[in-house]
Amino acid sequence: MNVLILGSGGREHAFAHAIEKSELLTQLYVAPGNAGTAAIATNVDLGVTDFDAIKEFSLKNDINMIVVGPEAPLVAGIYDYFQQEETSHINVIGPSKKGAVLEGSKEFAKEFMQRNGVPTAAYSSFTAQTVEDGKRFLETLKAPYVLKADGLAGGKGVLIIKDLKEAQDNLEEMLVGGKFGEASNKVVIEEFLDGIEMSVFVMTDGENYKILPNAKDYKRIGEGDTGLNTGGMGAVSPVPFADHILMEKVEQRIIQPTISGFKKESITYKGFVFIGLMIVNQEPYVIEYNVRMGDPETEVVLPRIKSDLLRHLSAFAKAELNKEQLEIDSRSATTVMCVSGGYPEAYEKGKVITGINEVEDSIVFHAGTTVKDGAVVTNGGRVIAVTSYGEDFKQALKKSYQNVKQLQFDKMYYRSDIGFDL
Ligand code: AMP
Ligand code: GLY
Repeated sequence: MNVLILGSGGREHAFAHAIEKSELLTQLYVAPGNAGTAAIATNVDLGVTDFDAIKEFSLKNDINMIVVGPEAPLVAGIYDYFQQEETSHINVIGPSKKGAVLEGSKEFAKEFMQRNGVPTAAYSSFTAQTVEDGKRFLETLKAPYVLKADGLAGGKGVLIIKDLKEAQDNLEEMLVGGKFGEASNKVVIEEFLDGIEMSVFVMTDGENYKILPNAKDYKRIGEGDTGLNTGGMGAVSPVPFADHILMEKVEQRIIQPTISGFKKESITYKGFVFIGLMIVNQEPYVIEYNVRMGDPETEVVLPRIKSDLLRHLSAFAKAELNKEQLEIDSRSATTVMCVSGGYPEAYEKGKVITGINEVEDSIVFHAGTTVKDGAVVTNGGRVIAVTSYGEDFKQALKKSYQNVKQLQFDKMYYRSDIGFDL
């Protein structure tokens, strides 16, 4: 089987790492990929939303499956694009455009949850025309106030504000001042949920589903969960507090109604569902849906799948995921992300990375890296994720940190407190 993975981050390197092991694989391509994927697959210089070019490449190279890493191609409709006759034999792993709206519009996601009885925070949504109603609505809520840009805002579109006046001003800036561009033409105002976050991951062929290992990521740049939001600075799987009772509630109250909601609402969905949860007094609530795997969560979730991922994904084509046996490693996996100094604000690229070959007993997943003049250099904010196994998350983290210390590049930074709250 010939497989094309779209994307260039640690998530895509983790997909390549898992798929590369499969006996079903003939050729593996990653577009555009990074220095890590170049070592185990063939990188192809294609834009992830350039569907015409992806189609041409796929037909020429006899691609059987496309695994879509990031949300942008999904929201832009790559699944539907490949349904045209010439390419309909290609198994695109991802939801249809209609399904991708679950991530592309917070309001749609909230309405979907309401229609399908999925527990979530109470909310109301507003536009520029109803900005004054929005300000009055804020007055009826208790602080802190949660304001969410409806559209994709690169993970920056959620504001949590303690002061009422400041929340009202921000609402106005979002709706009228274009604070997040078109993404904030509509704003969802939500009840604040006070709890602890975790994520669950599900793969579905549209008929059947399998629950993947759960995970918790660390989004803030600073230790103790302080400072600006990032794409994610580290992750732990499984989540130690997610016991059988909680996961049972998650499956019954959230996963089952979500998957049956797809069918009821004629949403074609053959891909991954990433469900961001807030656990309040042992009760799970959905904060958000993403229509792809998380990054860096994938770097701890996929290494815990011992069975053949490519075989599982192949089963999507005929909706035969129910015939697959998922085998999960009982050990913990943790990852620590090494980032460029300055990230998530301005940072420099092109710094030579040393010490990768010194890493022992951990997996190095490349994120923002490339090869220049024969050397691996930084090429993004998040640079390398170091994943380790352990009998528990503490043991795994110890190994990740030992190996992170082997790596060097100018202005490298990482959080040394991943898992601190567990
Ligand atoms: P999102 O982009 O929807 O994942 O939101 C970003 C972050 O905001 C989440 O990871 C949570 O930490 C926080 N958040 C979002 N919605 C709520 C809520 N209703 N109550 C409390 N925190 C929230
Ligand atoms: N780590 C969070 C995300 O991938 O959205």
